[in-house]
Amino acid sequence: MIRFPNLFKEGQIGHTAIRNRIVMPPMGTNLANENGAVTPAMIHYYRERAKGGVGLIITEINCVDAPQGNAIANELSIADDSYIAGHNELVEAVKEHGAKIITQLHHAGRQTTSENTYGLQPVAPSAIPDPYLQVVPRELTAGEIENIIEMFIKAAARAHNAGYDGVELHGAHGYLIGQFMSPFSNRRTDLYGGDLTGRMRFPLEILRGIKREVGNSFPVVFRMSADEFVEGGVHLDEAKHMARLLQDAGADALDVSSGVYASMPTILETMGYPEGWRVYLAENIKKEVHIPVIAVGVIRSPEVAEGIIADNRADFVALGRTLIADPEWPFKALEGRTEDIRKCITCNIWCIGERVFRNLHIRCTVNPVAGRELEYPQITSTLSPMHFAVVGGGPAGMEAALVLATAGHRVSLLERQSELGGQILMACVPPGKDKIRWSIDYLQTQIHKLGVEIHLNTEANADMLQGMNVDAVIVATGAAPLIPNIPGVNNPTVTTAWDLLAGRYEVGNRVVVVGGGNVGCETGLYLKQRGVDVTIVEMGDDLAIDEEPISRQVLLEELRKNDVCAITGLNVLEIKPDGVVAVDREWREQWLPCTHVVLSVGARPLNHLAEELTQRGVRVFVIGDAKQPRRLNNAISDGFLTAHRITQAESLARSYRPFPVQQSYWEQEQLLQ
Ligand SMILES: Cc1cc2nc3c(=O)[nH]c(=O)nc-3n(C[C@H](O)[C@H](O)[C@H](O)COP(=O)(O)O)c2cc1C
Ligand code: SF4
Repeated sequence: MIRFPNLFKEGQIGHTAIRNRIVMPPMGTNLANENGAVTPAMIHYYRERAKGGVGLIITEINCVDAPQGNAIANELSIADDSYIAGHNELVEAVKEHGAKIITQLHHAGRQTTSENTYGLQPVAPSAIPDPYLQVVPRELTAGEIENIIEMFIKAAARAHNAGYDGVELHGAHGYLIGQFMSPFSNRRTDLYGGDLTGRMRFPLEILRGIKREVGNSFPVVFRMSADEFVEGGVHLDEAKHMARLLQDAGADALDVSSGVYASMPTILETMGYPEGWRVYLAENIKKEVHIPVIAVGVIRSPEVAEGIIADNRADFVALGRTLIADPEWPFKALEGRTEDIRKCITCNIWCIGERVFRNLHIRCTVNPVAGRELEYPQITSTLSPMHFAVVGGGPAGMEAALVLATAGHRVSLLERQSELGGQILMACVPPGKDKIRWSIDYLQTQIHKLGVEIHLNTEANADMLQGMNVDAVIVATGAAPLIPNIPGVNNPTVTTAWDLLAGRYEVGNRVVVVGGGNVGCETGLYLKQRGVDVTIVEMGDDLAIDEEPISRQVLLEELRKNDVCAITGLNVLEIKPDGVVAVDREWREQWLPCTHVVLSVGARPLNHLAEELTQRGVRVFVIGDAKQPRRLNNAISDGFLTAHRITQAESLARSYRPFPVQQSYWEQEQLLQ
């Protein structure tokens, strides 16, 4: 008896049978080469997802008019016949593992920059800049529009030749097709603008053209934003009409998404959005049509996914970042092993905000292999097990323990707190941050299962570690908050954001938070929501500049909505028992009265143990914040890379002597990050 029977019922799009109801929606990876061709890294990335049991893969944006229509510099392309062979290799690799694959045909229109289009001015239905990127596009002529329609049709024919099971037209997220559909971006007065009929002419001509060219048995899925969440844009009522028109023109399924760049968090939610929050859009569209409908948006757990299908709210669920974080999610769900799923925490850091949107290869905070499947195939079992001590049970230490134990080594993990998790135990406290805990829940479950010997409440020291007679020590002792050298910093009214969030310190009703980075801002918000009168003081010009851009946008909006006072360009000179003395850029003094001060000005590595052990001749590897305080993605990646390299070196040479220790090793790691 399987636990999620509805999720694993066979589905169908057009005449194509799909082994279950799980779809991997299109997600740009930047793994194509600079010409937009399929690469081995891309094939490995998609093959892993097919192997993990997904029913249907929709490839990332695939440009029909490169580079004019690129949204990212290395966008995948199908703009001429030379690309077909590469796509065919990708298709074969996916189909070998039982998944179906269609490709998402795309043109960015105005939502791009000249960096991505290699110097070309972006084009659009009307010469109105997208408010997010602010690049003024050139208005397309009627002749150019007809040309682009032809490009979509020819691209679909190439996709057919390459062996794809169908195509998806990217009519969502404010790209060219969506730009034509929406009054937010289309102000044309000719045949391709105006009322619904005019705005729908462009997508419908493409759709009908593909059907004419490739035939009815080749499925065409249409991705739409059923609500653009911008004033003057498409909303659900109009989207329902659009859905019916698309169905009548031959669409075989509707992939119901939302948002445009100007409402980015409704395309790419941040951590605070609840699971499945926008399934109602698909559910409403489903009531209008008889073709299958795909729902998307923060669907992370099999229980939620099963509920959507069981309640007939959608025919398929699209698991985007969910499958970046864990390609094996479908098979794990099928086998009922939900505790083994590495859940996406919806941080946006390493997949989109700081990677794909910056024209870098895709990565993942919680899954260090994502985008690097070619470099890091499965961990192999050791032939000569060794004994490692890992000091510190934060994410870096736990990830290292996981890799070493998977390879078959004996691992003893020593943690001085009564609980595993390190700084994540505090990071999950501010509003909307609870999903971050999933990262350590997974690691904890896995290291338990693998038999890692966990010693809580254990403060490790050099004597103890030497006495354990281990082969090497992994120092993952983390960081401590930086205490700035300000008069009054040791007053009893002063604490750190870490102590506050860990519940080790109670503050009064008026607080100054010193430091307006991500942690300072989140702490300010946390306090404000608990009724405290807060002022955040930041030396620099901007708040939360260390936060990933989409999450930063949401955080700043939350600060504004919650009326949190934040002052930039202000330097704290002295902390007094009843307030803070600060100066602005013109050296004008300000007095900020408060009952307590919370410091949030960064962290310093804690690694004295590493130095002591090295002096005693013990082999030591320093990872995570103990090496350099950074973010969760760096900590997990560091734990993984270090442990992986140990296992590799060991299997190659039966010794990890080739590893340079300490400084030079750290430098190498910097390059690898
Ligand atoms: C790295 C990344 C790249 C994306 N690229 C595309 C894309 O190429 N085409 C598209 O329609 N949506 C794209 N999306 C949006 C996803 O398809 C999906 O709708 C979104 O991530 C929400 O679903 P999720 O919460 O399951 O991730 C992208 C998302 C991510 C995270
Ligand atoms: S980087 Fe963050 S949001 Fe992206 S897939 Fe990984 S955990 Fe999810």
